[in-house]
Amino acid sequence: MNDILPGEVEVWQFVERTARELFGRYGYGEVRTPTVEDTALFVRSVGEETDIVGKEMYTFEDKGGRSLSLRPEGTAPAARAYIEHSIGNQEPLTRWFYMGPMFRYERMKTGRYRQFHQIGAEAYGSKEPAQDVEVMDMVVRLLLKLGLTDVSLNINSLGDEQCRPVYQARLVEHLRGHASELCADCQKRLERNPLRVLDCKNERCQQIANAAPNILESLCEPCRAHFAEVQRKLNALEIKYVVNPRIMRGLDYYTRTTFEFIASHPVLGTASTVGGGGRYDKLVKSLGGPDVPAVGFGLGLDRLCLLLKESGQRFSPSTDLFIAVADEGSADAAFVLASKLRHEGLRVEFDTRGGSLKSQMKRADKTGARFTLVLGQQERESGQAQLKPMAGGDPVPVSLEHIARTLREASSGVSSPSAS
Ligand code: HAM
Repeated sequence: MNDILPGEVEVWQFVERTARELFGRYGYGEVRTPTVEDTALFVRSVGEETDIVGKEMYTFEDKGGRSLSLRPEGTAPAARAYIEHSIGNQEPLTRWFYMGPMFRYERMKTGRYRQFHQIGAEAYGSKEPAQDVEVMDMVVRLLLKLGLTDVSLNINSLGDEQCRPVYQARLVEHLRGHASELCADCQKRLERNPLRVLDCKNERCQQIANAAPNILESLCEPCRAHFAEVQRKLNALEIKYVVNPRIMRGLDYYTRTTFEFIASHPVLGTASTVGGGGRYDKLVKSLGGPDVPAVGFGLGLDRLCLLLKESGQRFSPSTDLFIAVADEGSADAAFVLASKLRHEGLRVEFDTRGGSLKSQMKRADKTGARFTLVLGQQERESGQAQLKPMAGGDPVPVSLEHIARTLREASSGVSSPSAS
């Protein structure tokens, strides 16, 4: 679990801000659900035989003897909220997004944490391929806006209640032929939830999974048509993708379309999947809600931020002005001036400890301020001062009344986050 300190948090804020703004354009409203839910919610949705529920949940008993879990993902809590607030009775089509911490007891390595953060979106009420493509398009556009171009979209279809059992039977037949070579967990999965063998991390299990039958060859006609239409619409939006029948996803609730966004940058190592999602047409009903189809995605914010930090972009806004005090009698006036300029929208640094002019200038250097203004008796009496550009160049004379305006003019052409 990581602390995110100033200096780093700006990358996070940039991604969050960009996503909020973009998702709003698609009509998605933000939903905030609690961090803790009944354990049963995840067992019934993500699935008992998944690694997430079987091995990775932070589960505890509260003082009332209830079994609660820190949420390992956002889809089940959102579905619970959708049902609890009878949203389906109020509107036929609902678009939600969320961002926040999730918890999984995983083995820590780069890009894989025990408290991590997701940005996710869920759309309820449309079974149409256009809805699948809308949510994928949102991710594609977000990655583009973030400047992350080296990410590939992999898509698959897991079929529905008609054709999945047919595939499952073929898969079991294949796996039975290798039963004794499977790990102990997968030997159990083979009987209870054979699809989960396909995402086991054990090396031998993976080799056996690689040789398993292709799920796309088992799709029934409606699922095949749905998947073909998803691809046609992706093509219409000129979104590049790879059809990858190995995209099973590690959660049980999916039907039909599944997808993953996989980055190629080495900084992520084996944690290269920056996002995943898919359709889950049966989940809302199985949790006691109406028969409402749904599709959505979750993006790993930690991983996106790791990639962005590698991109060399700068995210911290710079300080516009450092105000230094020339003599003790000017300390109050400088303090008041700093507050007034901040109110006018400037990013202003001021050393509340006072000290020598030399030490204040050192501090000005450290803050990376673009201009410095020294305030002393003379400046106070004349109402005039100098804006000194820290990057070099001639000082700019300024009336103390018009600092904000002059500073904006002096730095026009140089982008200033606080002045924009
Ligand atoms: P997921 O594939 O389990 O899907 O997680 C989505 C993303 O969260 C992953 O692609 C990864 O980037 C990030 N992630 C997962 N675990 C960790 C971790 N331990 N450390 C860092 N990042 C991690 C879901 O959670 C589904 N709820 C997505 C979804 C939404 N499907 C439909 N709607």
